[in-house]
Amino acid sequence: MRVHVADHPLITHKLTVLRDKRTTSPVFRQLTEELITLLAYEATRGVRVEEIEIDTPVTRTTGLKISEPRPLVVPILRAGLGMLEGMTTLLPTAEVGFLGMARNEETFEPYTYAERLPDDLSDRQCFVLDPMLATGGSLGAAIDFLFARGAQDVTAVCILAAPEGVAAIEKQVGDRDVTLVLGALDERLNEKGYIVPGLGDAGDRLYGTV
Ligand code: PRP
Ligand code: URA
Repeated sequence: MRVHVADHPLITHKLTVLRDKRTTSPVFRQLTEELITLLAYEATRGVRVEEIEIDTPVTRTTGLKISEPRPLVVPILRAGLGMLEGMTTLLPTAEVGFLGMARNEETFEPYTYAERLPDDLSDRQCFVLDPMLATGGSLGAAIDFLFARGAQDVTAVCILAAPEGVAAIEKQVGDRDVTLVLGALDERLNEKGYIVPGLGDAGDRLYGTV
């Protein structure tokens, strides 16, 4: 498994505002979208492309286009939805599938309450969006789900991760082709399964308390 932790002052600046508990939902949503566009640039570094010939007004030349089958972007509801617009801005031809997951806040076990994905993901490159990688239960289940449908490789884009969650995903994926692109790798998880220093409950901060 490859892990890429962003190292850019603009990303750290936006993350600092996201972490601040005084930041309101509208600003949080706007910043999430901006952050994802920056992270998406790194996450799509390995997107499959093929050469095409085109004519400029001056001459014939060779360029690149994104290969078929088109990449699939999968936001994990609810909080991952806040990342979708930022990702599709950079990858407008991608298809979008949805996974609804929530974790039990006592056991930290994830459960799936919605799924809208193509039945066959053979040869697909998949990009999973979830802002928080805490215990790794939700992302691990999403990754298993996509590989079970035939995905070729999975890149997960997360705003924050705990070292415990990264280790859990690494153990779970074995030699499958998985990349994590993280805005930051935080210190640890607390006893409630929250990332420290973190930003709190991402879904609540984006959309309000359920
Ligand atoms: C949050 C977050 C991740 C999950 C991370 O979702 O968006 O999906 O928790 O925790 P884990 O790594 O321990 O599984 P939550 O279950 O709160 O649902 P929500 O997005 O609807 O708020
Ligand atoms: N889910 C969140 O939204 N935040 C955390 O810190 C952990 C899980």
